[in-house]
Amino acid sequence: MLRVTSLFCGCGGMDKGILGGFDYLGHYYAKLPFEIVYAADNDPYAIKIYNDNFTHHAELKDVRDIMAHELPDHDILLGGFPCQSFSIVAQNPPRLGYKDEKGKLFFEMVKVLKEKQPRFFIAENVKGLLSANNKQAFPMILREFEQAGYHIHYKLLNASEYGVPQKRERVFMVGFRDFDDYFKFQFPSMLPERVPLKFALDAQANLDEKWFFSPKAVEGMLRVRAKMNKGRVQDLEQPCNTISAHLAKVSLNGTDPVLMIGERYRRFSPREAANIQSFPLDFQFDSVSDNRQYRAIGNAVPPVLMWHVANALAEIV
Ligand SMILES: C[S@@+](CC[C@H](N)C(=O)[O-])C[C@H]1O[C@@H](n2cnc3c(N)ncnc32)[C@H](O)[C@@H]1O
Repeated sequence: MLRVTSLFCGCGGMDKGILGGFDYLGHYYAKLPFEIVYAADNDPYAIKIYNDNFTHHAELKDVRDIMAHELPDHDILLGGFPCQSFSIVAQNPPRLGYKDEKGKLFFEMVKVLKEKQPRFFIAENVKGLLSANNKQAFPMILREFEQAGYHIHYKLLNASEYGVPQKRERVFMVGFRDFDDYFKFQFPSMLPERVPLKFALDAQANLDEKWFFSPKAVEGMLRVRAKMNKGRVQDLEQPCNTISAHLAKVSLNGTDPVLMIGERYRRFSPREAANIQSFPLDFQFDSVSDNRQYRAIGNAVPPVLMWHVANALAEIV
């Protein structure tokens, strides 16, 4: 078993994926040879969801308060470090990238790597990381990781190419302390089939008025434009557009994906958002409000995508 420390663990999308041992849309994702020895995040609601779903315990903690030398020894460091400041969606205020306080949080990963020197690390971030700060942030981040003693493979992966019914592009950086490991590792190959959104929908949600937009909201939208902006009403036969952390505030005038059911528009329920993110059906979110659920779900790394990356790593150990 390889021991994992998970920083910025959120509700545990990455962690569910690296552990494996779950069903999703009729496929069993095998248990992988990893165990989590430490996990932390500073969002109490995400931590509540996390601790409802794992047998090990995650800590509510700001990673800047973690003393690296106090962490348990581990073989892999995980970190989907906060991405808001790198995202192209977050243009207002403009993208500050690594100069912003949140953009600096990846240094906390670097600090742990320098002190603990685990054999591997896996970092994940939005596609915007590649172009942030006039394309200077990403090479700087790679350099920092290299200076901590790591060889790095990175790749932009689209979740829809790995069994997830969602077009979600994320940069994965996998770091190797030992050159032999670096030499052997290959990112997983994309799968031949795409999973359509219809498999992630919950028929129950069609029966609940609270997910539908009111006639007033639809009239308001139609006053601004002649018809619904294309690309927002999702094609059920294709993977869904990206599920974001602000789905709770989805409006008909924004850019978030919505559904058309007959003649009516509705938002996704949190359970559907979780399904689209490839969380297994027995992963529980119910102990926090809908808004908190949407936030934690939208922030997560899709477990199935993470499983494929972790499985590729398991193949070389
Ligand atoms: C992109 S999300 C990570 C999602 C997680 N890896 C998953 O797969 O579910 C980034 C996380 O960083 C957390 N975060 C932001 N600032 C933090 C800080 N200073 N200390 C600890 N966690 C922080 C947020 O609460 C959020 O859960």
